[in-house]
Amino acid sequence: MYLRVALLALPTAALALQFQLPFKLPFLQQKALESSQSTRIAIVGAGAAGSSAAFWIAKAQERSNISIQVDVYERSSYIGGRSTVVYPYDDPQGYPGVELGASIFIPANRNLWRATHEFNLSRRDFHDEEGLGIWDGTSLVFAVRHFLYWVSRLTRLQATGGWWSWWDTAKALFRYGFHSPRRTQKVVDDMVSKFLTLYSSTPPKWSKLEDLAQTLEWNDLLSKNTADWLEGEGVNHRFISEIVEASTRVNYGHNVDEIHALEGACSLAPTGATAVDGGNFQIFEQFLNRSTANVFLKTSVQSITANSSGKWIVASDRGSQSYDAVIIAAPWQSTGIALPEEITIPKQPYVHLHVTLFSTNLSSLPAKSLNLPASTKIPPMLLTTHEGARNGGKEPEFNSLSYHGKISDSEWVVKIFSKQRISDEWLSKMFDGQVGWVYRKEWDAYPVLPPTSSFPQIKLADGLYYSNSFEPFISTMETETISSRNIVDLLLEEHFNTTICGKPELSDTVQKDSDDYVYGWDC
Ligand SMILES: Cc1cc2nc3c(=O)[nH]c(=O)nc-3n(C[C@H](O)[C@H](O)[C@H](O)COP(=O)(O)OP(=O)(O)OC[C@H]3O[C@@H](n4cnc5c(N)ncnc54)[C@H](O)[C@@H]3O)c2cc1C
Ligand SMILES: *[C@@H]1O[C@H](CO)[C@@H](O)[C@H](O)[C@H]1NC(C)=O
Ligand SMILES: *[C@@H]1O[C@H](CO)[C@@H](O)[C@H](O)[C@H]1NC(C)=O
Ligand SMILES: *[C@@H]1O[C@H](CO)[C@@H](O)[C@H](O)[C@H]1NC(C)=O
Ligand SMILES: *[C@@H]1O[C@H](CO)[C@@H](O)[C@H](O)[C@H]1NC(C)=O
Ligand SMILES: *[C@@H]1O[C@H](CO)[C@@H](O)[C@H](O)[C@H]1NC(C)=O
Ligand SMILES: *[C@@H]1O[C@H](CO)[C@@H](O)[C@H](O)[C@H]1NC(C)=O
Repeated sequence: MYLRVALLALPTAALALQFQLPFKLPFLQQKALESSQSTRIAIVGAGAAGSSAAFWIAKAQERSNISIQVDVYERSSYIGGRSTVVYPYDDPQGYPGVELGASIFIPANRNLWRATHEFNLSRRDFHDEEGLGIWDGTSLVFAVRHFLYWVSRLTRLQATGGWWSWWDTAKALFRYGFHSPRRTQKVVDDMVSKFLTLYSSTPPKWSKLEDLAQTLEWNDLLSKNTADWLEGEGVNHRFISEIVEASTRVNYGHNVDEIHALEGACSLAPTGATAVDGGNFQIFEQFLNRSTANVFLKTSVQSITANSSGKWIVASDRGSQSYDAVIIAAPWQSTGIALPEEITIPKQPYVHLHVTLFSTNLSSLPAKSLNLPASTKIPPMLLTTHEGARNGGKEPEFNSLSYHGKISDSEWVVKIFSKQRISDEWLSKMFDGQVGWVYRKEWDAYPVLPPTSSFPQIKLADGLYYSNSFEPFISTMETETISSRNIVDLLLEEHFNTTICGKPELSDTVQKDSDDYVYGWDC
């Protein structure tokens, strides 16, 4: 759904103020004293999935006369989960925030896109003005100055840009031919157009992901790896193993023959990549701020058990509390939550990703660090392919290495994604000792995404739902908000015989066939 390669551009100015708690943080004891008339729902996790679940419930309450009390439990001290920023030199006053996890989304991600409008958050778009290269561990197999211009030129034959992009296009045509980029683009366009039906006024609703795969006719995409799928579409090996693999590696840490073709196509949807100025996490803060939920930060949930009157008991750092329904909005095996024995969630491995952020006084990686002739200009976005290693060569030491703009007159911030830890010695060697601030983070970033035909359950038991069941299908911020929307609809139907949009006859504020209609917002 997005191309994280676009992440080049930088938070230009606008320093996000360090997060302050804007929420009421009442104590659970106080709640217990209140009338227990309303339905109580617990949400575990305040990332994209959990914060949006609270928001969707609040939207439903605006439209239906229902009383729901929502408590959001979040283990860490901030809102956003895998969407969060850090500040160079740990100085929010001096420097703009840099995304440490989820970086970008695209206009087709209609919930996030709409949220930035409604919440008056400014976006910064990525124009990819500085170029991209693909490194195979030994050589720079391909380099262009304007990747996105080049992709759109080649795939849609749009005429924009100056002489340089014609040069890039010629170079690319020479290397990859004419058909492969266009055939790949067609796969992506077909995928995106089906994806957009999820926002229509009569969106599919699903109680199993297998059903959604069926409805969107994505079973084939899900059951083949990206390389095999594209080959079947007539895309040549070189394009797949270089351009496509560079995208699957930077976006999902997978090679093309390891990742299912649906997620492969998602990693190739580059048009209009954008991010919220100051950090995407602000969308999730606003989701919660505009809900009526109580948000308990620094509060870990330890167990969820059922009592014999059909209530769910959530035990956390703050004690035990009973609920009519619970939404688990975090990858289950990372939560440490004990569930009743009869509930089993299949083990889901995640890609363990090292993110290394650092600053340097060098405006680009020196060519000699890659053993290339000194005259070679290394592009600011360096992606990688496994093709060298596949042919007996060396595996690149990183998945991607990208400049994220200037943070002062002579200092740039750089982001590396890698499978292994990047040592100080390695950084210093590669950047001639010109390394300032360094920040490391290890994430369980996204699921391991092999071709598959089965998915985790969405409804684990009556009143117990699991948002992150969606991640092995597609793992992005946007799709987590869609997963939670679907869950909230299921829940409302079961408990209140209504939907996010209220009863059908009430939902009619915007023309339903409008291209901009977004289910959940416009009803
Ligand atoms: C490096 C990186 C780059 C990425 N790039 C992109 C990108 O460019 N675009 C994109 O769309 N996606 C990207 N993603 C994926 C994206 O971050 C995720 O798909 C999305 O943010 C997941 O949201 P979530 O709410 O489902 O889970 P999370 O964000 O993981 O939220 C789960 C929350 O639950 C909390 N929690 C866990 N256990 C407990 C407990 N026991 N009690 C209470 N709270 C608990 C956690 O602290 C966490 O805050 C990227 C991910 C990474 C790591
Ligand atoms: C949350 O909402 C309140 C008013 O509803 C507002 O005053 C506050 O600034 C908001 N917080 C954030 C972080 O936007
Ligand atoms: C909302 O529901 C409450 C309790 O069920 C009821 O007393 C009230 O009249 C309802 N209000 C409206 C506007 O329907
Ligand atoms: C939206 O933000 C801009 C700039 O940040 C500000 O000038 C404007 O008043 C805001 N509008 C609303 C409705 O909050
Ligand atoms: C289950 O929990 C609810 C809410 O705390 C309580 O009213 C009820 O008595 C409990 N049932 C049993 C059998 O413990
Ligand atoms: C970059 O240069 C500035 C001024 O020349 C210096 O103060 C700073 O320490 C240098 N930073 C790094 C990372 O080398
Ligand atoms: C649910 O609502 C519909 C109208 O929207 C109504 O026809 C139906 O009888 C309701 N079902 C229950 C179980 O209340």
